[in-house]
Amino acid sequence: MNELITYVMRFLKPFYEKKDAALQYKNRSGNQIIYGDPMQLQQVLVNLVMNAIQAIPEQEGAIRITADRTEEAILIDVADNGHGVPAELQEEIFEPFVTTKNSGGTGLGLSTSRRIIRAHQGVLLRSGTEDTVFRITLPVQAEPGGETQTVSSVGEHSTFLSA
Ligand SMILES: Nc1ncnc2c1ncn2[C@@H]1O[C@H](COP(=O)(O)OP(=O)(O)OP(=O)(O)O)[C@@H](O)[C@H]1O
Ligand SMILES: [Mg+2]
Repeated sequence: MNELITYVMRFLKPFYEKKDAALQYKNRSGNQIIYGDPMQLQQVLVNLVMNAIQAIPEQEGAIRITADRTEEAILIDVADNGHGVPAELQEEIFEPFVTTKNSGGTGLGLSTSRRIIRAHQGVLLRSGTEDTVFRITLPVQAEPGGETQTVSSVGEHSTFLSA
């Protein structure tokens, strides 16, 4: 996951630089292996970081990505200090086609992201009170090939990733 996150940060650099925003990444997850589809996981990260970039104000925007691990899981938080999710949409944002972006949002970002994370036996939730935080939780597999075999059906690009 570490390589994926740094790749996505580099890839999206022009977008957050355009907003004069600071993007910070802290990896406290060690070098844990995650089994999954790198293309799909990358898509999820791009979705979450792009949403954050679109939500933050010019100049004062800050996005923080953190990777942590517990005994069973890797936790990746994408936090921003932007305008937040409208109160009346707290539940709906994970539904397909729910968007507040009249200029070109399809509203598919979060629903697709949640589907991808679920296919990896993980969870995608919104958390945080002051900042807007989206949290990816992905299970850590002790022995790849054991109970993780179902994950290989996620996509033909499945491979080992170091977190
Ligand atoms: N970081 C965020 N801060 C504030 N609101 C957010 C954030 N992320 C998502 N949202 C809200 O959730 C809605 C749905 O997000 P989603 O990614 O599914 O679609 P979208 O971003 O509108 O369109 P697309 O992803 O296709 O560009 C957004 O339109 C926005 O209202
Ligand atoms: Mg989006």
